[in-house]
Amino acid sequence: KKGGYDTFMLKEIFEQPETLTDCIRGRITDDCRRIVLSGVIENKERFVHANRIVIVACGTSWHAALIGKRVIQEMCGISVEVEYASEFRYSSPFITKDDVVIAISQSGETADTLAAIQLARSKGAFVYGICNVVGASIPRSTDSGTYIHVGPEIGVASTKAFTGQVTVLTLLALCVGQMRGTVEEATVERIAQELKNMPIYIKEVLRLDDQIKNLSKIYTYARNFLYLGRGYNYPTALEGALKLKEISYIHAEGYPAAEMKHGPIALVDSEMPTVVIAPTDSLYDKIISNVRQVKARGGTVVAIITKGNDAIKEIADHCLEVPDVPECLTPLVVSVPLQLLAYYIAINKDRNVDQPRNLAKSVTVE
Ligand code: F6R
Repeated sequence: KKGGYDTFMLKEIFEQPETLTDCIRGRITDDCRRIVLSGVIENKERFVHANRIVIVACGTSWHAALIGKRVIQEMCGISVEVEYASEFRYSSPFITKDDVVIAISQSGETADTLAAIQLARSKGAFVYGICNVVGASIPRSTDSGTYIHVGPEIGVASTKAFTGQVTVLTLLALCVGQMRGTVEEATVERIAQELKNMPIYIKEVLRLDDQIKNLSKIYTYARNFLYLGRGYNYPTALEGALKLKEISYIHAEGYPAAEMKHGPIALVDSEMPTVVIAPTDSLYDKIISNVRQVKARGGTVVAIITKGNDAIKEIADHCLEVPDVPECLTPLVVSVPLQLLAYYIAINKDRNVDQPRNLAKSVTVE
């Protein structure tokens, strides 16, 4: 059942080239010019005339939503808000029939997300689901949606579902952007082509396995971790920290890198490693100054960088290199080393990674 792997989580991390192939299948035309998300196309008017989009989700799915916000705003020129499903209901949400609400849930059973959907529908919003488990309660209670089709996720810590959610959100952004005329054809083609190449890129990142296994030994006894990222990778910093927390029980905080100087920098010392997600993107220069600030305070830095960027190797203590992809796709390639780092640190501590204490795969209580 575990396909020769020691744990479901490791199997699920390693099957991401295949799960992303399944997730994309039939959704990008051969010439990469059109995105075929039938649930979106069939409801074209709702998406084209949407006033704004509100995404509701919990946990890892909420992190995917934060990435979705950026890519939808970039491609569709529409305002996107992201809410914790559990907070949405109690925030007197201002929702009208001109809003599109997107609910993201791997299990399709999360009680808070289900309740948020019911509230949004009662206010007349069009509700779109992005789920994995076919026929679950959430896909049954939405107006339309897309399955991520990554197969059953058994490990409690979400891995392949996260990359599937980010992939579907990117496809949705491109599809809606095309309908609204807000994205250039060349951009759609380039990103669609790179999404098709993604399984190859993920295979390449998985080859970091040995390097990460060795690296993990240095950090097994750290008591706190800081994860920093900006732009598209602020949410992946949050996700990297969540993965580490839930399976290793080490305290970790994810922060948008520039916020560090507004408080968390006080924590930095030689005892607290910082993981910096620093692909060569539009915010690269800014994040490098954050790396310098950590180093100047005696901190150690593990940096996830774009292959071939040698300059940063002189500043960071350890670098994990990922392939060069368009900025909006960097969350996909950086997530895999973050998953592996959390995984091996947890294994070194002899944790039950598939069933971490106190956690359940679907949270059906509010
Ligand atoms: C983290 C994790 C949880 C879930 C959250 C939402 O690894 O698995 O944070 O992401 O409970 O679950 P779904 O996506 O099933 O609604």
